[in-house]
Amino acid sequence: MEDTTQKILYSAVQPSGNLTIGNYIGAIRNWVGLQHAFTCFYAIADMHAITVKQEPALLRRRTLELAALYIACGVDPEQCTLYVQSNVSAHAELAWVLNTITYVGEMERMTQFKDKAARHAENINMGLMDYPVLMAADILLYQAHLVPVGMDQRQHLEIARDIAIRFNNRYGETFRVPEGYILKEGAKITSLQDPLRKMSKSDENPNASVFLSDDRDTVMRKFKRAVTDSDNRIVASEDKPGVTNLLNIYAAFKGCTVAEAEKTFEGRGYGEFKLAVGETVADALAPVQAEQKRLLADKGYLAEVLKRGAEEAFRAARKTLSKVYRKVGFYRGE
Ligand code: TYM
Repeated sequence: MEDTTQKILYSAVQPSGNLTIGNYIGAIRNWVGLQHAFTCFYAIADMHAITVKQEPALLRRRTLELAALYIACGVDPEQCTLYVQSNVSAHAELAWVLNTITYVGEMERMTQFKDKAARHAENINMGLMDYPVLMAADILLYQAHLVPVGMDQRQHLEIARDIAIRFNNRYGETFRVPEGYILKEGAKITSLQDPLRKMSKSDENPNASVFLSDDRDTVMRKFKRAVTDSDNRIVASEDKPGVTNLLNIYAAFKGCTVAEAEKTFEGRGYGEFKLAVGETVADALAPVQAEQKRLLADKGYLAEVLKRGAEEAFRAARKTLSKVYRKVGFYRGE
C-alpha cells in the first residue's frame, strides 16, 4: 500500500453555531479515519465565523466547545495538528496577498456569498465576500495535497485551486495545487423538512437539522417528523430524496453501506424505519456528548492542546509565508 503519511491534509469547521450531523458526516467523521494515514491539520475557523455577526463571548465559548467536540468525535491531537485559525496570524497575512490576485467578479459569483448576502442583507461586509480567499490561504499555507469537505465547499475549493495556479504562473512555483476529497456517500446531508436543501446550522425550521448537541428525545422527535414520500419503499434513488437522505444518515452512523442499509429495511414501513434511524443517531451521539462534556471540564488540557497546535501550525505556515513574501518582492532585510 502507498505510504501517504507525508501527504498533507487540511480542513476546518467554523464555530458559528451548533454543528449538525451534516457537518459530522460530511467532514469530521472522515477526518478521524484519515488522521493516521496523512499529516493532518484541522482548524477551528473563527476568522471565517465573524463574516456573519457573532456575539464575542459566545464565539469564544463555541471555539472551545468545537475543540472538545473534535476530540470527542475521535480527532486525536497526538495524531494531527488541531488549532484555532486566529491563533496563527499567517492566515490573514497570506489572505491579503492572495486578495491582490483575486478578482471581485469571481467572488461576487460564489454561490455561498450570494446565499449569505441574501440572508444577511443588512451586513454584506467585505469579509463575507472575501471568505473564499481566506479559505484558499488556509489551504495553501500548509501546502495541502487533500482537503476533505462536504459538497457545499466544492466551489470554494475550485477557487483555491485557481488562485494557487494563478500565483504560481505569475511568481513561479510556490503553492501545491490542492485536490478536494469529497466522499460520495454523505457529502450532502439534506434538511429533514426539505430534502432538496442542505442541512444547515442556521436553518430557521427547528425540525430541519439534527444537532450534535441534541438529546435523545429531540433526535427521536425530529426523525419521526422527517419528510419522506407517499410510496412505502425504503430504497435510495433520485426521486426519493427524503428516504435517500435518511438511508445516508443511517449508513454513516452504523458504519455500513447504503446498499446494506436498504437490505436491513427491506419490507419494513416508514414509521419503523424513521424510528430506527433516530435510535441509531441518538445512540451514536450520546457518548460523543458525554466525552465533550468531560473535556470541557478540563480547560487546562484544551488550552494546552490548542497552544501546541498553534505552534506546530505556525512553524508550517511560516515557511510558505516567507516564500510568498520573497516572491512578491517584500523587503526582508537581507
Ligand atoms: P462549515 O463550518 O460551514 O462546514 C464544515 C464542514 O461541514 C460540511 N458540511 C456538510 N457536509 C455534508 N452535508 C451537509 N449538510 C453539510 N453541511 C456542512 C462542509 O462541507 C464542511 O466540510 N468554509 C468551511 C470551513 C473552512 C475550511 C477551510 C474547510 C475554513 N477554511 C479550509 C476546508 C479547508 C466550511 O464550510 O465550514
